[in-house]
This record gives sequence, structure tokens and C-alpha cells, in this order.
Amino acid sequence: MTTQSDDDLVVYTREGAAALIRINRERKLNALNRPILDAVMERLDEAARDDTVRAVIITGTGRAFCAGADITEYWGGGQGAFVVYQRLGRLLLDRVVAHPTPVIAAVNGFALGGGFELALACDLIVASAGATFGLPEPSLGLVPGGGGTQRLTRAVGRYRAKDLLLTGRRLSAQEAREWGMISAIAADGDAVRAALDLAVAIARQAPLATHALKRLVDEGADAALDTALSYEQQTLIGLYGTVDGQEGIAAFLEKRAPTFTGQ
Ligand code: COA
Repeated sequence: MTTQSDDDLVVYTREGAAALIRINRERKLNALNRPILDAVMERLDEAARDDTVRAVIITGTGRAFCAGADITEYWGGGQGAFVVYQRLGRLLLDRVVAHPTPVIAAVNGFALGGGFELALACDLIVASAGATFGLPEPSLGLVPGGGGTQRLTRAVGRYRAKDLLLTGRRLSAQEAREWGMISAIAADGDAVRAALDLAVAIARQAPLATHALKRLVDEGADAALDTALSYEQQTLIGLYGTVDGQEGIAAFLEKRAPTFTGQ
């Protein structure tokens, strides 16, 4: 039996303005062990430091996006190790949410447990036709710990969330689209292509506006409406005075394409 080196558990490549992070542990359906959690965080940080990256795509090798937490990490380590692992997972998901560019989950197959939660932390989800989503934690005697009860409920509502959580059933890509979670369904094998199409559209927008939009939607959704409306208007007023704000308006009036610099 060959053991996969930690070095190639996550592959980072560039595709135009997108950074592609591919979880590459196919034999274990891309289950998240600690080296993968660390490596995805490092890659997210690398993408955040690079001004030419306008969107990040996360995907998986083979027939899974990610089959969730590596259950072997749960076994035999005791409560302390379990807590450390859970906190590491939280750090990763927080990194996705706080990332300066949109993060797109290109779900190419199973997205279960922590894999589904990783997708839920992303700004957009595209899926291949055969992808499935689920939160099987109750079948292990557990509950989700990375947003499976909270982000899912905020995304689809209480009854749909409970339908999935309480029965442990899997959601097809089609049903997930009907629930409003999925931006596009691609043919099997084409999820990354669909995500790249979104990345191209995102890269045409002004970078500061994109960054602000992500925050406005996420933070506004959890704030009182009046607070969120004030935040939105303050953000607009702030962007008006930026170089790109002036460039975008000038370009429209001069009937030309804008050149945004992220300033
Ligand atoms: N953690 C650790 N290993 C995992 C895993 C996980 N979450 N998910 C899959 N694997 C491993 C399997 O143990 C198997 O390893 P092996 O070949 O050394 O025995 C390998 O990945 C392939 O999985 P297998 O179960 O043989 O594939 P399958 O097509 O029969 O079933 C799944 C696919 C996704 C339905 C099944 O693997 C599964 O239920 N995984 C667990 C999902 C889960 O509960 N996630 C939440 C964890 S909290």
C-alpha cells in the first residue's frame, strides 16, 4: 500500500483570474485530515496575498468534492485531540468566509458532512449533475460542527434544514438547485468549468465592490435591517470616492469599458 505524501494533498493552480484549490486525496474521497485543513488554509492565504486573484475555486479530485471530516481523526485521540481538530476546521471555514475574493465551491461529487459545510461557507456553489449533498453526522451519533445546522438553516430555512438533518438523507444537485443553493449545474466532470465561468464574470467587476458585496450580504443577513441598510449606504458612499468608483462612472459616461485597479 502506498501512503500519499502530505505535499500533494492539496493542489494549487491558476486559471486566468481564478485560483484553483483542489483537494487531492482521491482514495479517501478527499476526507479532511489535519494536513489538508492546514494546506487549504495556506493556499487561501496565498490567494489572498495575490492581487491578480479575483476568485478562488475549491474542488476535489475524483468522485468526491469532500466526504467530510476524516473520521479516523475522531478515533482514539480523546476529547482534547477532537477539540483541536474541530477548532482547526472552524479556522478553515472562517478563512473562507473572510477571504477578500469570492470563493466558489465546484462540487464534483459527494459533499458530505464537513465537505457540505465547506461548500456552505463558500460564496457560490456550482455542482456537477451527479453531485450529492448530505449531513450524515447523526448516523455517527453526532451533529455537524462546521455550520451544518446554522449556515444551512440560514440558506434554505428551518424546515428544509431539518428535513435533511433529521433524516440524514442526501440531496441531489437538482434538488439543491431547487432549494436555491446552487448557481449552476454542469455535466459530470465540468463543475470546475462552470465555476470558471462565474470567476470570469466576477473578474469583470471592480475588486473593492466585489469585496464589499460579499461582506454586505453575509454580515447584513445577520444584522437588523436598519443597521444593514446603514452599512450598505455607508459602503456605497465610501466606494464613490475610490479611484475605481470614479473610473466606473466615467467609463459609463464615455461609453467605454472601465479599467479597474482595485483602488
Ligand atoms: N473519513 C475517513 N475516510 C473516509 C471518509 C471519511 N469521512 N469517507 C470515505 N472514506 C474512505 C473510506 O473509508 C474508504 O477507505 P478504504 O478504501 O481505505 O476503506 C474510501 O474512503 C472510499 O470510501 P467507500 O466508503 O469505500 O466508498 P463508497 O462509494 O462505498 O461510499 C460514501 C462513499 C461517501 C457514501 C462513504 O464513504 C461514506 O459514507 N463516507 C463517510 C461520510 C461521512 O459520514 N462524513 C461525515 C463525517 S463526520
